[in-house]
Amino acid sequence: MKQVDSRARAVIERCQLLAHCTMEPGFTTRTFLSDPMKEVHRLLSSWMQDAGMGVSLDAVGNLRGCYAGAAGSGRRLLIGSHLDTVRRAGVYDGILGVVLGVALVEALNGRRLGFQIEVVGFSEEEGLRFGIPFIGSRALIGQLDEATLNTTDANGIRVVDAIRGFGLDPSRISDAQVSADAMGYLEIHIEQGPVLENLGLQLGVVEAIAGQSRFRFTFRGQTNHAGTTPMHLRRDALAGAAEWVREVERRAQSTDALVATVGSLEVEPGASNIVPGMVRATLDVRHADDSVRKSAVQYLQQSAQTIADARQLSVSCEQHLDQPAVAMDSLFTQALESAVIRAGHRVHRMTSGAGHDAMIVARRMPAAMLFLRSPAGISHDAAENVFEEDVAAALVAASYFLEEIECQHA
Ligand code: GLV
Ligand code: MN
Ligand code: MN
Repeated sequence: MKQVDSRARAVIERCQLLAHCTMEPGFTTRTFLSDPMKEVHRLLSSWMQDAGMGVSLDAVGNLRGCYAGAAGSGRRLLIGSHLDTVRRAGVYDGILGVVLGVALVEALNGRRLGFQIEVVGFSEEEGLRFGIPFIGSRALIGQLDEATLNTTDANGIRVVDAIRGFGLDPSRISDAQVSADAMGYLEIHIEQGPVLENLGLQLGVVEAIAGQSRFRFTFRGQTNHAGTTPMHLRRDALAGAAEWVREVERRAQSTDALVATVGSLEVEPGASNIVPGMVRATLDVRHADDSVRKSAVQYLQQSAQTIADARQLSVSCEQHLDQPAVAMDSLFTQALESAVIRAGHRVHRMTSGAGHDAMIVARRMPAAMLFLRSPAGISHDAAENVFEEDVAAALVAASYFLEEIECQHA
């Protein structure tokens, strides 16, 4: 147990060290193939190599460490999560699952299993830089489309340019596709919500991940002088957007288990003495039932139009994501449950409201997810945390999971 505790401490210290790899001093902000990602790769590669793994970086910047299996073991288990962060993130979202993957291999102490293990640090999951999430995992399953590759960030840099700028070759993206010997995927992640803590549980088993829709809405009115334009003659884009934001909240509050968020508003020109002429607003809508999510989206598009018409504004919207809800694999999830029970915990099956690389990888292979309790239920914030005893519990449960999978595939 002592050894597990010191490994858990080391996992936390590594995550804290990686949190210093940031574009914004004093905070943790790290987008797809940004400069600080180089130091993340350097540190993780050295830990992977010390654990006996062969390390490579694929053409979309996924860092991949391979640990060989026993002689004749042809199959491969993937363990991973993402290396990018949201703006001003916490220390553990994503990176914890990658660092835990390396720690699991370290805990084998050179022992070979009946399958290879590939630890994957996905280059992009959050969608912060391009407004489109899952770039890394979509490349891994061979589903990164041209439209995404040509999407631009706030500085007009396309995804392909970012790849070249990082010293990678976009013509080799198809090589990032996982090999046919992949037999499944395990992702370990903080819960990012309050459910486990409220139940007094350290670990949870994900059975499904809620579907997500993401949009950018643009409201346009007329920029004008704030002192001279009478209220009844204004076409104020922000006042219209604000009315719609309240409608977004109202719809989610009145629909069971629906969540809907306007997380960003950009106001132009953006000065105290100017009536705003344009507002860009993001919309994020999630539900475990795709039909509930879709009907909410339809309603919110219609209500944006109705509000714009009444105020003589125009409104347009671009969809950036329409990701259906995804069920985890039942056999892999059973193996995870057995491992959690064997580690001495009660099993709690849950739906993840947060998106994860597992929902993309599951299109290609069986996937399972293990959650660690989130202290105070906080995530996507610097206050995000994890308990050392929960990291130790996850290490024990995940190592039993490896044994369960070995038995399943013996
Ligand atoms: C990813 O963190 C998400 O937005 O669910
Ligand atoms: Mn996140
Ligand atoms: Mn995450």
